[in-house]
Amino acid sequence: MKIAKQLQALRGFPKRYKVIARRGGYHGSTFGAMSITASRNEKYFGPFMYGVSFIPSPNRYRNDFGVEGEAGDLLCAEALEQEIKAQGPETVAAFIGEPISAANGVHVPSASYWRKVREICTRHGVLLILDEVINGFGRTGTMFGCQQFDVVPDLMTMAKGLSSGYAPIAAVAVGDEIYEEFQKQEVALAHLLTFGGQAVSCAAALKNLEILRREELPQRSAVEGRYLLSRLEGLRSHPTVGDVRGRGLLTAVELVRDKTTKEPFGVGPAAASEPFNRKMNELLAERGLLTRIFGTLQLCPPLVVTRDEIDRMVAIIDECLTIAEREFGF
Ligand SMILES: Cc1ncc(COP(=O)(O)O)c(C=O)c1O
Repeated sequence: MKIAKQLQALRGFPKRYKVIARRGGYHGSTFGAMSITASRNEKYFGPFMYGVSFIPSPNRYRNDFGVEGEAGDLLCAEALEQEIKAQGPETVAAFIGEPISAANGVHVPSASYWRKVREICTRHGVLLILDEVINGFGRTGTMFGCQQFDVVPDLMTMAKGLSSGYAPIAAVAVGDEIYEEFQKQEVALAHLLTFGGQAVSCAAALKNLEILRREELPQRSAVEGRYLLSRLEGLRSHPTVGDVRGRGLLTAVELVRDKTTKEPFGVGPAAASEPFNRKMNELLAERGLLTRIFGTLQLCPPLVVTRDEIDRMVAIIDECLTIAEREFGF
């Protein structure tokens, strides 16, 4: 956000300071990141960064507009344009979203959603920031989530998969024209951090990227992800399995109290303490499947996961659902 705001100022738009994010999104726990995260806790940490607003996020299962499929996704993209206009385009610096939002339940949008968002951002001079912290480095079946949708962001945030978690490292990539603007004006980004440019983490990340490429792990994620999804589809016969979705090895099973009404077992962070979800979490953990249920049961196994392990994961979920459903009278 700092790069986006500074770039807008360097381009002669110092009044472009607002950031638009999406409901259900998650971008982190530090103050700025929390400010653009929908489930931010006003009571303890508010007021948040000024100039943030939220728009609906694509959701193929329960669309905010009650419209199914691609048409529903496109309404979410149109909501961005409406929000930019409502805020005043001359005040908006950037829009941020994950290509596929994990926090919002792994709803895979149509490619036309991101194409439209890209076009709206460009037309209004709003920078597109894609959060690739979860999506990046093979998780969705390509090196980056944005490649699934053929969309090129202006800025891209990265972390987790950059070192596969072996060393703490995060980064922001920017497009050439952003880099060149800073070069041309001979200004630095005021972002000196104690651990910035940490050499050991950088070395670990470089080696990790070499291995990701050598072992073709993004491609593997695409192939094994299709297998995982096809196995998860088999769970739909359970009375509590409302939806199964995902891309690559980023997948989710949505558990619902009622398939017809799609009534969830609790909403947001409160869902974790809802009795059915708590029971499922317990049963899964007892059998060695470590996941978490926040409304959706999310499955994001390591990119080296084997077919045997996938079969075991699905068998464990199947067994746990059967036990929990019996106990709760489904
Ligand atoms: C999508 C997404 N963005 C940003 C973050 C925040 O990254 P960090 O915890 O490195 O600040 C996370 C962390 O879980 C995340 O999942």
